Amino acid sequence: MEKLFIAGGKPLRGTVQISGAKNSAVAVVPAAILAETTVVLDNLPQISDVGILTEILTELGATVEQNADQLVIHTEAMKSKPMPDGNVKKLRASYYLMGALLGKFGEATIGLPGGCNFEPRPIDQHIKGFEALGAEVKNEHGAIHIRAKELRGAKIYLDVVSVGATINIMLAATKAKGVTLIENAAKEPEIIDVATLLNAMGAKIKGAGTETIRIEGVSSLQGCRHTVIPDRIQAGTYMIAAAATRGDVVVDNVIPKHLEAVTAKLQEMGVHIYEMDESIRVVGQPEYQSVDVKALVYPGFATDLQSPMTTLMTQAKGVSILTDYVYNNRFQHIPELARMGAKIKVEGRSAVIEGSPLKAAKVKAADLRAGAALFIAGLCCSSDMVTELTGVEYIDRGYENLVTNLRNLGADIWRQSN
Ligand code: EPU
Repeated sequence: MEKLFIAGGKPLRGTVQISGAKNSAVAVVPAAILAETTVVLDNLPQISDVGILTEILTELGATVEQNADQLVIHTEAMKSKPMPDGNVKKLRASYYLMGALLGKFGEATIGLPGGCNFEPRPIDQHIKGFEALGAEVKNEHGAIHIRAKELRGAKIYLDVVSVGATINIMLAATKAKGVTLIENAAKEPEIIDVATLLNAMGAKIKGAGTETIRIEGVSSLQGCRHTVIPDRIQAGTYMIAAAATRGDVVVDNVIPKHLEAVTAKLQEMGVHIYEMDESIRVVGQPEYQSVDVKALVYPGFATDLQSPMTTLMTQAKGVSILTDYVYNNRFQHIPELARMGAKIKVEGRSAVIEGSPLKAAKVKAADLRAGAALFIAGLCCSSDMVTELTGVEYIDRGYENLVTNLRNLGADIWRQSN
């Protein structure tokens, strides 16, 4: 079993480079399936989810060359193939294969996705979208079977603002006959990134990043070259870690606009922040004010940063309240933080956090961002004891070169398998 060991007490100092965005990468790799010729994707994060998707594309007949952060995907020999089991169950984003295969072949069989299951995460809005486009969808033996004689454009109103459903419907609709309108669409930067790739392939998508997306179907899509946007969640995690350790860190290769919500909240706590064109410097302070945080859809404070933010809130004076309006119960980090001495009560979808020092302990990450909360907690403890963190396989899903990056910033962290 892989473990992280962290001796805290060292303020993070220096510069960290942010890789491409996980939540774009896991969508643009499946999106490449739709092209009839070669797609080149640059600035992909080197994380396990991208590795698994690469294997899945190969199983579907693609030839994929990997050169560091670049994938060259040759799609010419791809064939429709049911994928009820195996790799598709290892990550949640395998649901994007549904939209991409449906658009390309008019059919898809995909095992229900795995990944970070901190609470039931339905895909009813994805299915509603595929059905509106004219597909028949069945859920049998743990897999979703989707088939359409012909995809036709439709007007689709999403009952909940969903990143995954917005992207999945966009993938299928690019090849539908006529115009599709997605209303109440999610506006996350990753959606714009996928639309940018699809448009470079020849799709006709307008309005990505707003609540109405218009997709005029096209009969074929061609290869292109695309660079994935920086990972705003990874960047936000390092910003929070810099603040929590009272460090001084330049978070480089970011789009500062994507980080406005976290920047504003850190400033409200008393953290000093300096924005440059493509980087943000975070200078921690000895004392922080308590704040209230509401995790919302973009451009609100990202739910993916609420777990790391919980750890920072333990370092503020007084009582802070964090409410997650995206997920009902994304609090798997809280019992573990409590083992480290945090004083937190969960009330419904809110966590009430009373500032208190953290002590090293043996803790377990039960999902990716819970892992982020816990390695930051380990970094905040004093150096006399060592935090032992298991569940590293979750952290590997989203943080490229985590140990190297943190060591370069001066952290005393190492990884061991036993
Ligand atoms: N929802 C439904 N029905 C649906 C789809 C979503 O009820 O058909 C609900 C969900 O249960 C949730 C809310 O709508 O309460 C939002 O879910 P969304 O569909 O937006 O989430 P997702 O697309 O499955 C992506 C990210 C998550 C991130 C969320 C919210 C990827 C691969 N995952 O998930 O990232 O938390 O958007 O921003 O893009 C992470 O990176 O740690 C992570 C979990």
